[in-house]
Amino acid sequence: MASSTRCLIAGNWKMNGTLQESLDFVQALGENPAPEHVEVAIMPPFTLLHPLASPFREKGVRLGAQNMYCETSGAFTASISPVMLRDAGCHYVILGHSERRDIQHESNALIRKKMDLAWEYALEPILCIGEHLEERESGSTNAVLKEQLAVLAGVDGGVPLTVAYEPVWAIGTGKVATPEQVRETHAFVHEELKRLGHDCRVLYGGSVNPANAADILACEGVEGALVGGASLKADSFTQLIEIAAKVA
Ligand code: 13P
Repeated sequence: MASSTRCLIAGNWKMNGTLQESLDFVQALGENPAPEHVEVAIMPPFTLLHPLASPFREKGVRLGAQNMYCETSGAFTASISPVMLRDAGCHYVILGHSERRDIQHESNALIRKKMDLAWEYALEPILCIGEHLEERESGSTNAVLKEQLAVLAGVDGGVPLTVAYEPVWAIGTGKVATPEQVRETHAFVHEELKRLGHDCRVLYGGSVNPANAADILACEGVEGALVGGASLKADSFTQLIEIAAKVA
């Protein structure tokens, strides 16, 4: 892990969590959940952003959103804008998650439009990239990642940015990339980012849990994790932070 970047453990709650469950989570996190050299963030569903902003701030946990729309306001029923995310206290916004790309057919062009708007409103995008199983098996992983990272073409290297490499076949499946696959792919992602003029943090995501986190976080080029299922319970999320504090 690069010494200039702080390891980030980020919990993507996806479409999970009621108000009461989230307040119980906050309470169970304890007084001081984020150690000095590990950054901790949670991306709850939109409905929980406002109520969680202050309790998370008090605990040093950063708030993020799971998506946003590519306009600031107007007649876009059911959409949430970057202005609203800032108003709710968000620092991060996840963009390009494979569940958005696959289920909602989000294109690279749309993702870039959202990224530009996120930067305009001082949000830090967590750009998700990752290949499907067939793509890995046919040897086209790097080509897929290269195409997804091409959304950064022409973007100033100084913008706030985190990239999350999440192999689609590892998301919610319990299958984790081997340390060798993680090392190799992260090396490629860092190299490609460098070629595009960016030197940002790269997280790993996909079935990260307390049993496999130490091996993943120890891999060269991994600077944190984007966690789905294991971020829903305060005890497993806390364990992940503790593991990161030892390994990072
Ligand atoms: P899981 O940790 O549940 O596999 O989800 C990973 C993910 O998609 C995080 O964005």
